[in-house]
Amino acid sequence: MKILGIVAGRHGGNSEILVKEALLAAQAKGAECKLINLFDYHIEHCTGCEACTMQMGEVAMDPTKKYKGCILKDKDDMDRIVNEMQTCNGVIMGVPTYDLTPSSLYLKFAQRFLAYELSFRLEIGDVTEDPHTVGGLIAVGGSCHDWQTLALEGMGATMFTQSIYVVDQMMSTRNGRPGNVLLRPEQLERAHKMGENIVEAINTPVEQRHWLGDPDMGLCPNCHSGLVFRGEEHWDGIKFPFECAVCGAGGDLVRDEKGEVKFVLAENGLIRDRNVNASRAEHLNEIIKTRIDFFKRQGEVADLKKHYAEVSFPAI
Ligand SMILES: Cc1cc2nc3c(=O)[nH]c(=O)nc-3n(C[C@H](O)[C@H](O)[C@H](O)COP(=O)(O)O)c2cc1C
Repeated sequence: MKILGIVAGRHGGNSEILVKEALLAAQAKGAECKLINLFDYHIEHCTGCEACTMQMGEVAMDPTKKYKGCILKDKDDMDRIVNEMQTCNGVIMGVPTYDLTPSSLYLKFAQRFLAYELSFRLEIGDVTEDPHTVGGLIAVGGSCHDWQTLALEGMGATMFTQSIYVVDQMMSTRNGRPGNVLLRPEQLERAHKMGENIVEAINTPVEQRHWLGDPDMGLCPNCHSGLVFRGEEHWDGIKFPFECAVCGAGGDLVRDEKGEVKFVLAENGLIRDRNVNASRAEHLNEIIKTRIDFFKRQGEVADLKKHYAEVSFPAI
């Protein structure tokens, strides 16, 4: 049983301490644990070139073609990290909250996973075994929930590209200077519990795995995010009154008998669940249709494209 801790906070900082506590609990239950701090690795920004998804489309249509992976593959440490991650049964991430959201170091890391889409790598034999990785997320901030409103949600939004099924998450609050969390034994205890939960999830058959975090966390009954927005029509006409901003579940906001607002899923509310391969494949369908439409019609905008390419302003 392999579990990897990933920290995006300071050395000796609060995220690191909480992830270490979770790993200690997992280790005590028999897991083989490793820990990395993203500050120690060279990670390039995704350039947005789309070479990966263009290649994926080509290989899917013609399996004799070879997938070359991310164009940054030999330029930084991402390939090494992802290859390790995609053989792990569990991942525990500790990420500081900056400006309400996960820190940019974490996001830079997470947004490189498009080139490593697990279902695609499995299909082409780039990865031989699906590790069915489960995850625990820890957002760490100096303030309470009111100043960390997009922290866990921002981390949750990066899970489907990393193919991680989140079974637990916690928000660590009111921790400023490194080591502040050591004054909060209840938070250390909660991180410890996360380590145990991750081991429990790994020891559960894949199809029986489920949420092990606080049952009342968030609004969405599917992914436990607290972010629900008024739905708008999707590209193919699907529409829900409200949607979860993180997993894409659809439903409505209703008051229960106690007068509390609940997000109740529609009967078909999980057809857009981003964590399910089939829904993501449907999204890929949308992307491919948009791309084909553009390629077909690009002649119509060739002059305009040239015009905007020639427009220039002084930089600083
Ligand atoms: C640039 C910056 C922005 C921050 N913004 C927030 C914030 O919006 N909300 C919050 O609760 N804490 C915020 N903090 C505080 C950190 O999240 C906090 O110090 C945390 O303990 C850092 O984690 P670490 O010790 O693992 O590095 C911010 C800190 C920095 C450096």
